[in-house]
Amino acid sequence: MSHLFDPLTIRGVTLRNRIGVSPMCMYSAEDGMANDWHLVHLGARAVGGAGLIIAEATAVEARGRISPADLGIWRDDQIEPLARIARFVKSQGAVPGIQIAHAGRKAGSARPWEGGKPLSDELGGWEVVAPSAVPFADGYRTPHALTGDEIAQIVTCFRDGARRLALAGFEWLEIHAAHGYLLHSFLSPISNQRTDEYGGSFDNRIRIVIDVARAIRTVWSEDKPLTIRFSATDWIEGGWDIEDSVELARRLKPEGVDLIDCSSGGIAPGIKIPVGAGYQVPLAEQVRHSAQIATAAVGLITSAQHADEIVRSGQADVVLLARELLRDPQWALRAAHALEQPVPFPQPYHRAY
Ligand SMILES: Cc1cc2nc3c(=O)[nH]c(=O)nc-3n(C[C@H](O)[C@H](O)[C@H](O)COP(=O)(O)O)c2cc1C
Repeated sequence: MSHLFDPLTIRGVTLRNRIGVSPMCMYSAEDGMANDWHLVHLGARAVGGAGLIIAEATAVEARGRISPADLGIWRDDQIEPLARIARFVKSQGAVPGIQIAHAGRKAGSARPWEGGKPLSDELGGWEVVAPSAVPFADGYRTPHALTGDEIAQIVTCFRDGARRLALAGFEWLEIHAAHGYLLHSFLSPISNQRTDEYGGSFDNRIRIVIDVARAIRTVWSEDKPLTIRFSATDWIEGGWDIEDSVELARRLKPEGVDLIDCSSGGIAPGIKIPVGAGYQVPLAEQVRHSAQIATAAVGLITSAQHADEIVRSGQADVVLLARELLRDPQWALRAAHALEQPVPFPQPYHRAY
């Protein structure tokens, strides 16, 4: 039986504990470049004792950014500012991870604190792309439906982005296939109305995700974990559901995917989601047991006892926190103390221990 402060080894990488920083967009980059904000934000949480730091959704091409202020990895000069972060995170004993992403039809929006709405061309927006020419919601752009050749180009962008992230020193890669962004919009029948080999049947809708995982594995070292975040359910009748997620997890295992990060929702606005403490944990549990693959649980997990219970009871292998770690970057240190575990207290802070 494992607990929250047991190390976890996947391939050649060992997390010092099961606590991870969930990927969170900071909407603070310029031209896709990481800067001091990202270093301090992610670095503080490494100092704060988490075992895994997953940097935000990082776009594989410029039009795949959620907002103009997202991180990107479509050019070689975007490597070094990220490498600086990876080096610091690692120097603090945490594993540097990052999420690789394409925002699809939800791209080109304002920052949340500037309204989060799609931007016009005049305000810096751009044409968005998707499996089908179906807008996310009223007021969103009608996306350009990608051709087969354009899909292949995007798969190549994921591969090239992963190659650059490896050069930057990241040791844990998460493919973003959740929250209604490009890959999720291929998976879900709600947004994918294609009639070619990338739409229709389950096998066709998952094709791009398999292609992306396979392409990334050609450049991402065998020693390093490759993981993926799904929206394990759309919470919509007739949408993508947990059984689909279990089956996709089974198909991804032989492609070299090591862990499924189980989130949910995001394919359409206004969906009723039964939000509450740990509400997505049963999704991680079902994928873990039915597909026999490691999982991460995320969503409204805020107490040390709850996080520990999730790992102890075998519901998930890793617990990711997002907003609670914005409130308290030292959450992992406090959790260790609360659970009477050795606290990985940073030496320069020792007088406060
Ligand atoms: C500021 C912010 C930015 C986020 N950005 C991302 C992101 O880049 N990629 C992603 O998959 N999820 C993103 N999320 C979702 C979180 O990773 C997490 O799944 C969600 O907040 C639920 O966890 P929590 O209840 O611990 O906050 C973001 C959440 C927040 C609050």
